[in-house]
Formats: sequence, C-alpha cells, structure tokens
Amino acid sequence: MFGVVFATIAGAWLPAGFAPAQDQRLSLQLQHLGSMLGSSAPVFLTYWFAATLMWVWNQKFRAARMRQWVSLLGAVCVVAAGFALLQTIGSTALASLLPGTSFAWFCLAAAIALSGWALFIALKDRAWECRPQTLRILQSPATGQPLQLVRKGSRQALVNSAGERFPIRNHIPDMRRPDDLTGDNRKYNYLYEIIGGFYDDIQRVAVACGAMDGEAYVMSYMSPLEVEAGDSVLETSVGTGLNFKYLPAGVSLTGIDLSPEMLTNCQANLRRWQLQADLFLSNAECLPFADESFDTVFHVGGINFFNDRAKAIREMIRVAKPGSRILIADETEEHVKDMYERGPITSGFFRNRKEPVTAPVDLVPPEMLETHLELLKPMGKNRFYALTFRKPKVCG
Ligand SMILES: C[S@@+](CC[C@H](N)C(=O)[O-])C[C@H]1O[C@@H](n2cnc3c(N)ncnc32)[C@H](O)[C@@H]1O
Repeated sequence: MFGVVFATIAGAWLPAGFAPAQDQRLSLQLQHLGSMLGSSAPVFLTYWFAATLMWVWNQKFRAARMRQWVSLLGAVCVVAAGFALLQTIGSTALASLLPGTSFAWFCLAAAIALSGWALFIALKDRAWECRPQTLRILQSPATGQPLQLVRKGSRQALVNSAGERFPIRNHIPDMRRPDDLTGDNRKYNYLYEIIGGFYDDIQRVAVACGAMDGEAYVMSYMSPLEVEAGDSVLETSVGTGLNFKYLPAGVSLTGIDLSPEMLTNCQANLRRWQLQADLFLSNAECLPFADESFDTVFHVGGINFFNDRAKAIREMIRVAKPGSRILIADETEEHVKDMYERGPITSGFFRNRKEPVTAPVDLVPPEMLETHLELLKPMGKNRFYALTFRKPKVCG
C-alpha cells in the first residue's frame, strides 16, 4: 500500500522534478538512463526507494541495521550511474545487455520468484511449534488441569482429560474463556483490535514527536529486570512484542495477550527480528501456566484498565519462580489525561473513566520483598510508573 501511494504521489510530481529546465545536462542524462532501462526503471526505482523508507521505518532508524541496506541501495545507484555514464560516453555494448523490455521482464520474474519463495516459507511451517519445556507447564486457565497437544489433519488443539479444548489458530493457542471479554477488558480489547495493525507506528510517531530516545526510554523501565541468557521470561500483555528486543540473547520468551490483532503483529515482528517466542491468546488475570514456571515475569502497559488488577498481579506472582523480581509498568494518570483523553481514536475510550489511574502498590501482597515504585519522566513529566518487587524464596 505504501508503495502504491508513494508511486502515485511520485508519478504526479516526478516528471517535472526529474527534468528541471535549468539543468539540461542532468535532464539529458536521465533521459539516457530512461531510454536504456525503459519506462519500468522509474517505477522500479520508486518502489525500491519506498521499500527502503519502509524498512528504515521498521528498523526504528537504528544506524547499525540501516548500514547494510544503505550499502545495497548505494550499490544499485552506482550500477545505475555506471550505465548512465556508459551511455553518455557512447559505449552501448554493456547497456545493450539490459534493454528496456528485458529489464521489465527481469523485474517481473524477480517479483514472481520472491512471491513464490514467500508462499513456500508460509506453507512450510504450518504446525504449531512450542518448546517442550513450555508444553510441560501449560494448564487450563479455567480448571488448572494440564494440557496435551492433539493433531487432527491440519488442525491442532490443546486438550485435557476434563474435556477442555483450546484450539490453535495461526500458530497461537486460544486460551480465552467466555467471561474474559467482559467489562473494561472487552472495551479496551476493542480498541487494540482497531489499532493493533499500526500500534508500532503510533509508538514511533509518539517517540519522534516527543524527541525521545526510544531505546533509553524502554530500558528505563526494563533495566531493573534481572534476566540472564538461558532464563525463561514471560511478558503478560505482550502486545506487538516491542519489549522482547531489549532482553538479552539466548532467553526463552513467552508472551500472552488478549488481542488476536496485537499477537498477529507480534508474530510478524518476531519473524522480522529473528526472535522466537511462544505466544498465547489469554487473559492476564488467569494465566495458562503452572505455578513457579518462569525465571522472570513482567508486564508493561495494560494493567491500568484490567477488570481485576489484583488478580493479574497474583497470577504474575503465582507463575514466577521464588526469588525472582517482578516488574509492572504502565502510564500515569497525567499521561492518560494528556495523551489518550485527547487522541482522535483513543478519547472515546479514556474519557469518563470510573476512577483515575494509580500505580497498584497497594495491590502487591505484603509478603513480597523490595517493593519499589519509580516514576519515569521522559519529556519532564511523570509519564510512566515502574513498580518492582521480589517474590520471597520461601513463600509462607
Ligand atoms: C499498551 S499495549 C502494551 C503492549 C506491550 N506490553 C508494550 O509495552 O508495547 C497493552 C496491551 O494489553 C493487552 N491487554 C489488555 N487487557 C488485557 C488482559 N486482560 N489480559 C491480557 N492482555 C491484555 C492489550 O491487548 C494490549 O496488547
């Protein structure tokens, strides 16, 4: 879509811009390039440029990752400039290797080959693959009974002896119960289903508008987590998986969320970042895991508007191993008022709330250790809170 929009806009103004009357030499050289590569060249280069912009956008402008792509783009420009030079100095030998129509056919063949490859990759991994250690800790969120994986043709599900069945769709087990989507959970789920497809873009724009260092911001709430390579980590309300990128390599990742749209985008992100995580469609207030399953459990950005915040915190504690540090971070009332109550899509969801947002310090059970609340102030305002505490090694 981005390519089509870009090509349309470029098509409207490029001809004039490409041949400025005041620079006849440039105009002449571009005409040479055009006649050499045919009419498909500007279209191809426009799409190439659009794809580069899109890629840079997806990499959040991170210099290290951009370098490879910029080098590739540079190489293409050098080759194009080389052809133009050959044409200008009158040598047609090399240029004749790639006449206009052949170039168009070459682009088409490349596009077909890439589509075929993408289809092959998509069909190749049809089955849900969950690490055996994750399969071992799965349990029904309703009854707590352990679950097994069953396959019937191409269909898969998690079942147990109590007759419960949780289908697996698009590689994600659906562990939701009918009453998960009620009250505020239902209301905000509707919002995330709407914005899920461009949630990451909203975050990028917010970071850019606030002139913030996005990575430093995420690290400011993630750094208290004590995660080491080899640990198992659970994020409840994982959304599109943005926080996973900031964990050390070699960690076994698991995420749950109540929104299918957010998890679909999380899958796409993980593929792009070459990360692997077990994802589950589930309510954070009723986790589908056995007690003491994870070395680290954390939550970012959803708890303020859960139906039952205390239950969600008890669940995080239940599935965390003794001695582990737990993190709960979310926006402050100041931020919700400033941003969400004013946003064009979000205002309808956040105005007329029953009560203001508060950090759930009072909901942390008293037996937890090292309870600490930190207010984060990007752009000089209290925007985010990070609440940490440690589960005791021996629970009474
Ligand atoms: C603001 S997003 C945060 C996503 C991610 N943690 C991040 O930091 O980018 C909030 C997420 O909470 C999820 N959520 C809301 N209520 C939930 C619930 N009861 N159980 C699980 N996830 C929930 C939403 O679907 C959404 O993906």
